[in-house]
Amino acid sequence: MSASLAAAADTVRIALGERSYDIRIGAGLLDDMASYEGLPAAAAAVVSNTTVAPLYGQRLLDVLRRRHRRVELIELPDGEDHKDWPTLNLIFDRLLAAAADRKTTLYALGGGVIGDMTGFAAACYMRGVPFVQVPTTLLAQVDSSVGGKTAINHPLGKNMIGAFYQPLRVIADLDTLATLPDRELKAGIAEIIKYGPIADAQFLGWLETSLDALLRRDESALRHAVRRSCEIKAQVVGADERESGLRAILNFGHTFGHAIEAGLGYGQWLHGEAVGCGMVMATQLSVHLGRLDAADAKRIVGLIERAGLPTRGPDLGTDRYLELMRVDKKAEDGDIRFVVLDGLGQASVTAAPDAAVREVLAACVG
Ligand code: NAD
Ligand code: GLY
Repeated sequence: MSASLAAAADTVRIALGERSYDIRIGAGLLDDMASYEGLPAAAAAVVSNTTVAPLYGQRLLDVLRRRHRRVELIELPDGEDHKDWPTLNLIFDRLLAAAADRKTTLYALGGGVIGDMTGFAAACYMRGVPFVQVPTTLLAQVDSSVGGKTAINHPLGKNMIGAFYQPLRVIADLDTLATLPDRELKAGIAEIIKYGPIADAQFLGWLETSLDALLRRDESALRHAVRRSCEIKAQVVGADERESGLRAILNFGHTFGHAIEAGLGYGQWLHGEAVGCGMVMATQLSVHLGRLDAADAKRIVGLIERAGLPTRGPDLGTDRYLELMRVDKKAEDGDIRFVVLDGLGQASVTAAPDAAVREVLAACVG
């Protein structure tokens, strides 16, 4: 029974030499012993939060207790505003109090906040312990659990303190998406939409046809969207793990989006909402710079709108947007750099004249 569920899972491989790993995607994977085959069997600690632990924590503990001598549950407060040092420290407090050794595997059970924080804790605890991602939001299944970016926020900038640290496996159980609030589902769809314009025009077409099915959580639509997103991310990360070039295209919409998140205060807009709106701005910037046809831009903006994501940014003031966008990992010598589209399915990173950015902001804000 267990073996058949695992066999029915889709597997996407992240090829990174000795740090290679599988993303398993399917229904019923959380309770399936086969999902965990081959992972270390020493002690384990599940890191989750006060929302996800009551929903799925016991099920993960039950399955892990069949494999591990000792399993702890570490429950963190929920929310982007807890993606910070004091909350990260709670993980270390609990691991040290339990005398967890360097063979302890950390399991991240939750969305991107839990995944990013657990990954960073795993990179730091005793200079590195193994970790496994068990993403339970759509956003985490299609993006944040894959590729090894781990971080916490700083009041001056999002995800500014962190490390590249790859998990041993990603176990994406589509059944967990059943309890996800609609607003969070849509935020996840924003990161799915991202992959079309930057890498796969055909996928953009599929999304135009299948968006309604995704919004009503049709399992085969979700499965295809998660798998195709992971395949694209796997290709990009496999070619440029530490973002020396190509990987930056995965930040399409994020320069504007991170400014929205930091400017409003973390947690006001969801990350995916800010990215959705940021993609509208980055799309308009691409048109402004003569790189993208207006008709193609219309398709992208139309899809974001249909997904129920915000397409107009909050009025932080243009100067404030520019100030916030300078604190970005892509910035070089104080110049803000943007991911722009060179047609559908093609992206690159470029600096843009302040005047062009100001015009785009004026058109897309308020
Ligand atoms: P999140 O982790 O805050 O989860 C969203 C909400 O859904 C939370 O309240 C959470 O408790 C709840 N939740 C999670 N799973 C649930 C479920 N199955 N049922 C009901 N509720 C559930 O947000 P997110 O959108 O998953 O992730 C956003 C974070 O991911 C941001 O911090 C962002 O910076 C980060 N991120 C990282 C990467 C990366 O490459 N590392 C990529 C994209 C985003
Ligand atoms: N979400 C952007 C990246 O993983 O590079």
